[in-house]
Amino acid sequence: MYKIAVLISGGGTNLQSIIDKVKAGYLDCKIEIVISDNEKAYGIERAKENDIYAVALSKKQYGDKLSDEILKISQERNVDLIVTAGFLSIIKGDLLKKFKNRIINIHPSLIPSFCGKGMYGLNVHEAAIEYGVKISGCTVHFVDEGTDTGPIIIQKSVPVFAEDTAEELQKRVLEKEHEALPEAIKLIETGKVKVHERKVIIENN
Ligand code: GAR
Repeated sequence: MYKIAVLISGGGTNLQSIIDKVKAGYLDCKIEIVISDNEKAYGIERAKENDIYAVALSKKQYGDKLSDEILKISQERNVDLIVTAGFLSIIKGDLLKKFKNRIINIHPSLIPSFCGKGMYGLNVHEAAIEYGVKISGCTVHFVDEGTDTGPIIIQKSVPVFAEDTAEELQKRVLEKEHEALPEAIKLIETGKVKVHERKVIIENN
């Protein structure tokens, strides 16, 4: 069975969307492990409620070695794909090499807008509203050495209204995230995704 690891730092609504799609039979895979870099993350509870093995790796304890520990666990448990879903630590080193084009991330904007260092959570939506864009959305992309720079797999857009608060825009974008992330996982697990340099080619049917 295709095995995925989901990496989280917070509430884990994207994790929940994957759990729900596995339960519904849309995704034919097992969430082998949930890894959090924050022991208080609510996503850990979501995992436990669904009998999914979850570990919290404290940034204090692992520091620079956090990615190495994630690599060790992922290899021990024969993980096929790593999904970062609201995971705020940087992925680096051997983990990137050994899992090249096998780590995906969800970002709450249309990359290359409002991404990169410091752009996470509500900051992203505040920046989009302040800029005055009329469209925002979410992006699922492969993870490479940069921050939010890897090849793009799926993007979904939402309108931005003049009177929007960051929280309202976040809610609208999250609904699209919960569609996009399971869709990307399904495309990858069914072998429909090929990467040619920066371009991701998706096979029809
Ligand atoms: C999501 O909006 C995700 O796109 C974002 O954090 C939120 C996590 O929500 N990620 C980033 O901003 C990464 N740069 P969740 O814990 O409810 O899935």
